[in-house]
Amino acid sequence: MKTTKICPLPWHHFYFNSSGRIKACCSADKAVAPISEDKKSVTEFITENRNHPHLVEVRESWMRGEVPDTCKICVKDLGWKKVDGVSKELAHLEPCDTSIVNYPPRHIDYRFDKTCQAYCIMCVPGDSSRWESVVKHNPKFEKWLQRSANIDYDLDYQWLYDADEIVYLSIAGGEPLLTDRNYDFLHDNMHKIKRLRFISNIHNINESVFDLIEKYSEKIKITVSCDGLYDVYEFVRAGLKWNQFEKNYKRLLTLLPKKRISINFVLMKFNEHQVEEFKEYFSGHDIDMRPAHNADHIYDPEFVNLYKSTLNVS
Ligand SMILES: C[S@@+](CC[C@H](N)C(=O)[O-])C[C@H]1O[C@@H](n2cnc3c(N)ncnc32)[C@H](O)[C@@H]1O
Ligand code: SF4
Repeated sequence: MKTTKICPLPWHHFYFNSSGRIKACCSADKAVAPISEDKKSVTEFITENRNHPHLVEVRESWMRGEVPDTCKICVKDLGWKKVDGVSKELAHLEPCDTSIVNYPPRHIDYRFDKTCQAYCIMCVPGDSSRWESVVKHNPKFEKWLQRSANIDYDLDYQWLYDADEIVYLSIAGGEPLLTDRNYDFLHDNMHKIKRLRFISNIHNINESVFDLIEKYSEKIKITVSCDGLYDVYEFVRAGLKWNQFEKNYKRLLTLLPKKRISINFVLMKFNEHQVEEFKEYFSGHDIDMRPAHNADHIYDPEFVNLYKSTLNVS
């Protein structure tokens, strides 16, 4: 696919997750292993992989006027909407004309830690420490869910303290909003972060995060993951409780306008009957409803029975 446009994300963005997989951005198709899996700090990891051969290849393809294979899915699904949006947002940064870069990423997708308190039916051990532990202790699940590789990072935020500017920081996980986490790294650096997004189940929110949202509400957006109301919620999101979710959702509504809280609804046969009621409940929010992907297991009755009995959901 030929083009005269260039998506700046492979230059200015950095995406990585808890298994160290790297992508050109979250919408890109291909995830690759890092240059080395040796334990290192998050800052060292970013520096080491900033010019990962995959990213260099993707940059070269854009410079040749060809949409890279990994980016075709984004262009196909969204047209040029995302590319045009980030081109505008990142226009003041270094030009995208070299395949090797010597400046830091300033558009970051941060999901280094898969610690989570839930076992959502459509999720996988690679994204949830709870699923990881269930599969480890109950090999019956291995038929559907494989344990994933995990890079053991030395957690540091030097990369954030060193940055002159962060145009966008998206934090997911695992679950990014947990009560026992320390969020000083965000409080200390909010003055240089232009946009901050959490993708969260909002089940357990640290008071310090509520403070952050209150203070910087104009910079923060939350993508709330919720795939059903009441009993359907509790079935699909094992480990989480509707009342607790609703309490936090209502508190967020006192701090952020609905347009800054979008809802991510993973469509499954378990919740499809609630779609209209769900839209009504969350009216005023942008709701992204997409079918579960890479989750064939959720339609195997044997898996569903094991899920129900192991996690005590009905
Ligand atoms: C892996 S979660 C991590 C963040 C956080 N724990 C949460 O649930 O929002 C990121 C997003 O992926 C969604 N998700 C999980 N499994 C999925 C699947 N099989 N297909 C599509 N989306 C999925 C979640 O609902 C959530 O919105
Ligand atoms: S809350 Fe998020 S990370 Fe945790 S199990 Fe559910 S979808 Fe996965």
